[in-house]
Amino acid sequence: MSESTAKVLMELTSEHMETGLRGVPIGYCTTSHVDPELGLHYVGQPIAQLAQRDPEEVIYLLLYKQAPDAQALAAFRAELGRRRRVDPQVFFALKTLPRRGHPMKWFLHAINMLGMTEATGDFREDCLNLIAKIPVVTAAIFRLRSGWGDPILSSPELGYMEDFVQMLGVPQHDAQAKAQLTRLMRVFDVLHLDHGGGNLSTFTGKAVASGLADMYESILAAMCGLAGPRHGKANQECLNFVEECVRAVGGTPSEGLTRELIENRLANKRLIYGFGHAVLRVEDPRATVLMDLGEDLCPNDVNFKMVRMLRQVVPPILQRNPRISNPYPNVDLASGSLLHAVGLEDSEYYTVLFGMSRVVGIAIQIVYERCKARGGKGTPIIRPKYIYSRAGTSTGAVTDGVMAG
Ligand code: MLT
Repeated sequence: MSESTAKVLMELTSEHMETGLRGVPIGYCTTSHVDPELGLHYVGQPIAQLAQRDPEEVIYLLLYKQAPDAQALAAFRAELGRRRRVDPQVFFALKTLPRRGHPMKWFLHAINMLGMTEATGDFREDCLNLIAKIPVVTAAIFRLRSGWGDPILSSPELGYMEDFVQMLGVPQHDAQAKAQLTRLMRVFDVLHLDHGGGNLSTFTGKAVASGLADMYESILAAMCGLAGPRHGKANQECLNFVEECVRAVGGTPSEGLTRELIENRLANKRLIYGFGHAVLRVEDPRATVLMDLGEDLCPNDVNFKMVRMLRQVVPPILQRNPRISNPYPNVDLASGSLLHAVGLEDSEYYTVLFGMSRVVGIAIQIVYERCKARGGKGTPIIRPKYIYSRAGTSTGAVTDGVMAG
């Protein structure tokens, strides 16, 4: 960009060091943005307006930046169906994994295996293939690791999440339970597809792709980022927290007992899950969508009742701490309770479900950065600057900072 057209976007000061690049603009995101007050938008549309749409329709929107008409949607569904087949070697490899390994570790392994069996070396092709195949390997992980049996073949004529639920084949699930799980998974998938360009997993995936690692290697790195409890694994931790709260109040979440419980946890410096966000300054609209869905799907579920109570009790308590900039519910508050209520009871799998969905947005963002950005040249290799300092801020102050390239 020439000097005359360059705009000052922000002033960087030493206060920005070691703050996780909070608010530092470094590129353009063509799929979605997160407004601090209004939350997530996909291609300019608020997430609440898209939450009940077909996942394929929303994926199409993220890919092509416009809503499909009926013909385009049918063609896109058929294309995803055609690409859904997974090389059996992926399943053979999964069968050799230790069942005690966390499902996210299985997920990482599956993506690596997909990279060894399916990679074309073309970012656009690999993006579409990954979108089509990721529900197939996710369902296989559930089945093989949980001992539910061999993977179930995909039925490509079914919808994206309908086929996923069919391939899961949850044991002892009757038609009604299956319908409820499908209803939740359609919304869950749409809500988790993308969340701007700067969340940890997305940024990591794009950073690794900037070194020209292929799509599968980049997505594998992204999913390692998602595996941490400050990011994707927060949904697992949050259900565990909710269940602990239910036990602590003896199964009936009264307002007084819940308030006391939260105050005690904070006094003992224990974490409160499901609240706060680095960007948002209001309740996450994804949380609002899930709360409304929960009122319909499982209003009397004991965990959901606790979630409802936490949503009411926690924000005013956190608000008293001036260092907490967002005391409001985030997407993880209700997602685990809902999954549990519709029959996916093992919280260890929840981050894999998040990953199955988020792979889509990250892959699409990688295609933009590799194939379209800067007039098609792509973004350069990520290479930020660190300032040399012997002690850093370990002593509470930077004493000997030297600018180094
Ligand atoms: C996400 O959906 O990725 C999380 O809300 C985290 C984030 O946006 O940083």
